[in-house]
Amino acid sequence: MSIVNSLSPRAVSAPESGIVEVVNYARGRDGLLPLWVGEGDLPSPDFVNKAAMEALAAGETFYTYQRGIPELRQALSDYYVRHFGITLPVEHFFVTGSGMQAIQIAVQAMTSPGDEMIYLTPAWPNIAAALEVAGARSVGVELQFEGGKWAVDLGRIEAAITPKTKALFVNTPSNPTGWTATREDLAAILGLARKHGLWIMADEIYARYYYPGTRSASFLDVMEADDKVMFVNSFSKNWSMTGWRVGWIVAPPQTGQVLENLIQYSTSGVAQFMQKGAVAALNDGDAFVQANIDKARLSRDILCDALIATNRVETLKPDGALYAFLKIDGVKDSRQAAIDIVDKTGVGLAPGTAFGPGGELFLRACFLRDPAQIQTAADRLCDYILKL
Ligand SMILES: Cc1ncc(COP(=O)(O)O)c(C=O)c1O
Repeated sequence: MSIVNSLSPRAVSAPESGIVEVVNYARGRDGLLPLWVGEGDLPSPDFVNKAAMEALAAGETFYTYQRGIPELRQALSDYYVRHFGITLPVEHFFVTGSGMQAIQIAVQAMTSPGDEMIYLTPAWPNIAAALEVAGARSVGVELQFEGGKWAVDLGRIEAAITPKTKALFVNTPSNPTGWTATREDLAAILGLARKHGLWIMADEIYARYYYPGTRSASFLDVMEADDKVMFVNSFSKNWSMTGWRVGWIVAPPQTGQVLENLIQYSTSGVAQFMQKGAVAALNDGDAFVQANIDKARLSRDILCDALIATNRVETLKPDGALYAFLKIDGVKDSRQAAIDIVDKTGVGLAPGTAFGPGGELFLRACFLRDPAQIQTAADRLCDYILKL
């Protein structure tokens, strides 16, 4: 038996990310415009870095609270008052080592091996992989794609529910499709969860990147205090802090001890000095986030308007999130297309094959980037598409 095959089969069968495969293929090339991963082009803001550096200099290098430092949990509570119009006491908040770890903890909290969780595809690949690594089953239900727009079919979700289903994972606005649930969609999904006694894992990390208004509809708008909804969230996208690996969970306070234990037995808590950076992000970062949102809106318009004008791309401007998800006429293999596009144009795109059923013929471009660079990327992509 090889060394690798003597490891846990569950660990060995975890898939390589289809996004990273293309990134590794062309990483570091001259003149590359990297629109393949979901992050912006700005480093974290100075006021955030300074708060973390000051905490380090002050010796804040010890073990700390598993649930998060009180100051950060309070800052999260204040953030929800400002941006979601809802008062949630600090007992609802749990600080995690990234949005990804928030998902991992929620998966552990909601499922046992053999249980099922339903998610909507095309989807960010990590949710399905996190479930499988934990021994649970990921059950994908495809969104409908018509006239360049994505929509959810509730009947299909209900048909996928079995006695083993424990939860529904709902990412809105969605990475990669941009599908953004309406308040009515959320109320209907919540109704299904109530009817079948399921948890909802709500991934609303892109809620502020909502272009028709100030934020997308949230389960917070439709739920009651006793509903089984757990929110996973992240500092990554709003505050340009992808490399920090800090996120949070919003959950019913009754789950507090369970979540604290799961944090204890994974990371044992997020470094205190990083939490101080996160406090600064929340308390002093509203203007920074707004500037990111304004930039994303402008860059979305530049990229999508140019692509739509070729008449060779099936897409509409997404209402939310940071991605154009493109179906280009004639592209039959998006993995091969992503490689060909980066070779010929220097624009890095993520292949739709990475996002599961329904995404195979698409390519994803992240537009949280300087509008001038997005214009260059759009020009090169349109030139490529028109020559296909
Ligand atoms: C839908 C969604 N959820 C969660 C995350 C996790 O973000 P992070 O682990 O950087 O906090 C991402 C990152 O791309 C995402 O797209």
